Amino acid sequence: MKIGVIGGTGSHGGGLALRWAIAGENVAIGSRSLDKAIKAVNKYQDIVKVSSGKAIKLEGRENPDAAKDCDVVVLSVPYTSQVQMLHEIQPFMNPETILIDVSVPLEWKNGQPTPVAIPEGSCAERAASVLKDSDIIVIGAFKTIGAYSLRDVLIDLKGDVFLCGEDEDAKETVAQLVKKIKKLRPLDAGPLSSSRASELMVPLLINLNKRYKSKQAYIKVLNI
Ligand SMILES: NC(=O)c1ccc[n+]([C@@H]2O[C@H](COP(=O)([O-])OP(=O)(O)OC[C@H]3O[C@@H](n4cnc5c(N)ncnc54)[C@H](OP(=O)(O)O)[C@@H]3O)[C@@H](O)[C@H]2O)c1
Repeated sequence: MKIGVIGGTGSHGGGLALRWAIAGENVAIGSRSLDKAIKAVNKYQDIVKVSSGKAIKLEGRENPDAAKDCDVVVLSVPYTSQVQMLHEIQPFMNPETILIDVSVPLEWKNGQPTPVAIPEGSCAERAASVLKDSDIIVIGAFKTIGAYSLRDVLIDLKGDVFLCGEDEDAKETVAQLVKKIKKLRPLDAGPLSSSRASELMVPLLINLNKRYKSKQAYIKVLNI
C-alpha cells in the first residue's frame, strides 16, 4: 500500500510512518520543506537500522507531493493548520483516497491541556466538511495513541485504535493498517461524529500521564 504522511517529520506522523515502513509499507514523509523531509527520512532509516537491521521503503517529499498517488494519506499537522493543509494537498490527491485524520483540538492553558471546541463537532468532521465536494473518504483514527510510544519502535503498543467514519470499506482498510502495528487493536467506533469523544480523551490521557508519571497511558476497551 502507498501511504503519504503529511507532517511526517513530527512525532505522531513520524511514529506512524516508522511503524508502517517497518511492516513493509511504502511510505512518503511529507513536510513543508523538502530538505526537512529528507533529513527526517535519513534519521528514520538510522533508527530502523539500529533497532531491526531492516531495509525500509521511505521517501521524503514536500506535502503536496507526498499526498500524490496514495491509497491512504495521513494528516498529522497541528489542528490549527489542518484546514489550510487540506486545501493545499487536496488538488494533488487521487479521488477516493482514504484520508486518516489524527488531529486533536487542544491548547495549553496554565500548564493544562484544554479541549478546544470545533464548530463541526470534531477535527475529523471538519476535515470531511472541507473535503465534502470530493470523493476523498475521511476516517478519524489514532487520536488516543501517544506519539511517545509510537516513535519508540521497540515499545509494543497494546492499546485500541478507535476508527470513526461513514465508509465501512475504508474503515476496514484502516483496520488492516492498524493491525500492521504489532499489538494495536482496531475498533470500529461508528460514525465520524464518534471522533468527538476520542479527541476529548486526549487531554484526559495527558492528565493521567502527568499524575501517574507515565509517558504512555493508552485506552483498552474490555469485554470486546
Ligand atoms: N503528539 C501526540 O502524542 C499526538 C497524539 C494524538 C494525536 N496527535 C495529533 O497529531 C498531529 C501531529 O502531532 P505532532 O505532535 O506530531 O505535532 P507537531 O510535531 O507539532 O507537528 C507535526 C508536523 O506538522 C508540521 N507543521 C507544524 N506547524 C505547521 C504549520 N503551521 N503548518 C503546516 N504544517 C505544520 C511540521 O512539519 P514540517 O515543519 O516538516 O512541515 C511538524 O513536524 C496533531 O494534529 C496532534 O493533535 C498527536
